[in-house]
Parts: sequence; structure tokens; C-alpha cells
Amino acid sequence: MKEFNEKPQQITFDVTDRCQMQCVTCSKWKTVASEVMDKELTTEDWKEVLNKLHKWLGDGFWFCFSGGEPFLRQDIFELAEYAHSLCIKVASMTNAFSIQHLYEKIIDSPIESLNVSLNAVNNPLIHDESRGRQGSYEKTIETIQTLTKLRNEKKSSLGINIATIMLPENLEEIIPLVEYVTKNKINGIMFQLLDDKESFHGYFYQKGCKTSTYKMPVELRTKYKNMAKRAIEVIDKLIEMKQAGHSIYNSYEQLNAMKVFFNNPDDILNEIICDVGTTNFAIDPYGDVRLCFNMEPVGNIKDTNPEDIWINEKAKKCRNMTKSCKMYCRLLNCNFKHNFANFNKSFIYRLKNKIVKILTGRK
Ligand SMILES: C[S@@+](CC[C@H](N)C(=O)[O-])C[C@H]1O[C@@H](n2cnc3c(N)ncnc32)[C@H](O)[C@@H]1O
Ligand code: SF4
Ligand code: SF4
Repeated sequence: MKEFNEKPQQITFDVTDRCQMQCVTCSKWKTVASEVMDKELTTEDWKEVLNKLHKWLGDGFWFCFSGGEPFLRQDIFELAEYAHSLCIKVASMTNAFSIQHLYEKIIDSPIESLNVSLNAVNNPLIHDESRGRQGSYEKTIETIQTLTKLRNEKKSSLGINIATIMLPENLEEIIPLVEYVTKNKINGIMFQLLDDKESFHGYFYQKGCKTSTYKMPVELRTKYKNMAKRAIEVIDKLIEMKQAGHSIYNSYEQLNAMKVFFNNPDDILNEIICDVGTTNFAIDPYGDVRLCFNMEPVGNIKDTNPEDIWINEKAKKCRNMTKSCKMYCRLLNCNFKHNFANFNKSFIYRLKNKIVKILTGRK
């Protein structure tokens, strides 16, 4: 495990717990807007967070807006502009349900990487059922198509990516999703293993859970067992497709770890020690900072500098607790090198490679 005094690699601004979907995999949408609205950090608070982070980390670091649904906040573009003025790079997640009026704004904004959640491409019902709202598939596909077209017309460098959860219901959609990405010149796709719904909770209601005594619910274990054989075949195919040049962001290391997991979920607890304590710095809508999103906050950024939070006693305790953690979310993307914040870098890397190949005649 890395030394704790290294600086964080993965910074997330969970700007709101609120969400207009009803995903079956997540409980953030249960957040009642009227209970949290006046507790969320204000625009000025988030700008101050950016000032503090910039003072600590300097130019050029990435952060990702997430939530809840980040685009439910009206000030998302103002914050992106402010970050840009400080030479901080911005990515964002979205469920793409209510951003149809924002296409031009997104393209013209400094957001460099937009990561759209999509769980199926051939069967709309699979996507809609997983997201809990009819019509979600149609809107998401329309968003991806229109933004990609607009980006090309405007010669914008916006990276457009897809984020997909691997579910028992969508296993036959995984390969078509990769083919869709390649065919439509979308920058890339990132797969996420289905995690316990309890991990995807609104921070306002849940301040932490018992990670050292966690037991996977029987229902979830049965789901993994039933999908294991086909999941392993699909992951093998993903590895093949990645080798053939399809833009799959998950590292080979992560894809192989997923296979180990499906063979026997418990093996992964011994194979991978979770690294979030040394890499993650996640700020929730109320300013609480977590290194692990399932553990207690280690400080609040409104009243403390981030560099002090990063090395305080609670942070040290959290890093220690990660060593005995019994949860399986270590397989999520935040534990592996290719993550959302790197999406755009990966695109630039591929572009540079292409240019070098053309200039040198290298195959
Ligand atoms: C929590 S959402 C927040 C951003 C935005 N609301 C969205 O859905 O894109 C971030 C990502 O987590 C994924 N997710 C939700 N529940 C999950 C679960 N139980 N296991 C793994 N990923 C999950 C979503 O599909 C999405 O890609
Ligand atoms: S996964 Fe995203 S869209 Fe779905 S309920 Fe959670 S926050 Fe909302
Ligand atoms: S596996 Fe990692 S992210 Fe998940 S609860 Fe444990 S320490 Fe936290």
C-alpha cells in the first residue's frame, strides 16, 4: 500500500445527494430534496473548496462531479468555469435524464470529460428497469448521439464516455455496448461490477457502516453465483476486445480481478487490499470528506484545510481500517488505475500515439 502522505489521485465532488431516477442498484434517490437543499455547500463554498485544493495540489489535477445527479445543481457550469480559471481539470458523471437543454452549454463549458451511465444498448427495457424510470434509455441514447455529433461539428475536445454496471440482467448487452462505442466513435467505456446497494447511499442519511464485520447479503451472493459462468465468458471477451483496440477503460488487472471474484467472491478479500485510503478524496454535498465512501468522514472541508484532513488522526485510522475491511467494493473502479478522471487523458494518449505512428510510419 502507498504511503499516506502521497497526495490523492482521485478527487470527487459529490455535489448533491438528490436524484430524479430510481435506480434499483442505488438508494441516493431516496434523499428528500427539502431536507437537504439548505444543507448543501453553496456555490461560494465549492469555489472556496477549489481554492483550497488548488493551494494544496497546484495546477492540473482532475476532479469529477458526481452525486446524486450533479446536473441538478444550477451552478455546475459556474463551478466548472471557476475550476478552469485555476487550471483544474473537470470531469462529470451524469444519468443524462434532464440535460437535453444543456447540450450547447456542455460543449462550450470547460468540462473535459462527460461520463454517461448506460446499462444496455439493444434492449431499452433492461436499461429503464435498472434505472427505475421509463424513457431513460431513449434520453440517454439521444444525449450520447447528439453530444457526439455536436462535439464533432464544433471541433470540441469533450471526451464522451459510457459507464455501465455489469448486472445479471445486462450480461448479453455488454459486448454490444463495446461495439456501439467503437462504431459511434465514443471515447470509451468503463464497466463497474454491481456492488451492494447499501454502498450507494445518500450521505445525508448514512454516515458510515461496519466495514470490518460486513457480510454480503445472501440475495446478492446468489445473484453473483447465478451470473458467474456467463460473466467470466463476457469478461474474457472484453479482454480480447481490449487487446484488439476497443476502447475499454478498465485495466487488464481489474478485468482479471473481476474474474477471480466471479470464481469465488471471497478470494478477492485476500487478493486485493483496498487502496482508497491512499488515493481517494471524496467531498460530499455537505463538505464532509471521506477516503472510503463507506466509512465515517475524516473531516469537513468547510472548516479545515484539505492537506490537514489528509494526514489527520481520523484519516490514519481510516487507512488502518481499510486493511481489515470485509467489503467487496474494492473491485469498483476507484481502486484501479483507469478511472473516470483519466478518461480524457487516455483519449489524448491514444491520439498522441496515433500521431507518432503516422509521423514515424510505425504500425
Ligand atoms: C452513483 S452514480 C452518480 C452519478 C449519476 N447519478 C449517474 O448515475 O451517472 C455513479 C455511478 O454509479 C453507478 N452505480 C449505481 N449503483 C451501483 C451499484 N450498486 N454498483 C455499482 N455501480 C453503481 C451508476 O450507474 C453510475 O454510473
Ligand atoms: S445511480 Fe445515479 S442516477 Fe441512479 S439513483 Fe444513484 S445517483 Fe441517481
Ligand atoms: S473495500 Fe475499500 S472502499 Fe469498500 S468499504 Fe472497504 S475500504 Fe471502503
